[in-house]
Amino acid sequence: MADILCLYYSRTGTTRAVAEKVAELLEAELVELTDGKARKGVLGFLASGMDAMKKTPDRLRPFQTEKPLEDYEHVILATPIWAGRCSSVMHAFLLAHGRELPEKVSYIITHMSDASYEAVFSQMDRYLPLPPYQLAMSLQPRAVEWYQDIYDFARIIRGGALPE
Ligand SMILES: Cc1cc2nc3c(=O)[nH]c(=O)nc-3n(C[C@H](O)[C@H](O)[C@H](O)COP(=O)(O)O)c2cc1C
Repeated sequence: MADILCLYYSRTGTTRAVAEKVAELLEAELVELTDGKARKGVLGFLASGMDAMKKTPDRLRPFQTEKPLEDYEHVILATPIWAGRCSSVMHAFLLAHGRELPEKVSYIITHMSDASYEAVFSQMDRYLPLPPYQLAMSLQPRAVEWYQDIYDFARIIRGGALPE
């Protein structure tokens, strides 16, 4: 059973690709979060922008992990940036389950612009039992070095040692 859990939400596949690579490098369990809402196309984009601004996001669909969240050694949360915040789906996860997370929590955010959105990490921290986070990665997937960033992130989490 994996000791690292990577939980992600992705609307268009970018964050999913990053989460999959991180999970592969770390031999982590990978679980997708969703609120079940249709978010494709322009209407989905607009709805997502409005949802990102809501204080109370739509409820998450039930998801399954191999063990309770607090039993993982490390949980990685990956989300796209929506309107300068974490996606409403990750917000919903943090509201419902943030307090169940173990001591070690790390974040991955993906976004379109050059900004690094570091304030989002502190926003997410508010839902954790023991802030602050362990490690955080802000990825602009168009950037040429993003694969290296993913590798470095995984290496640091594993304390320098990655499986061959
Ligand atoms: C509603 C909405 C709002 C967004 N707001 C921002 C933003 O404020 N800054 C930014 O750089 N990218 C923004 N983006 C772009 C996404 O963060 C970016 O494309 C992300 O990598 C998409 O990840 P995904 O493919 O996993 O959904 C926004 C996207 C959506 C759908």
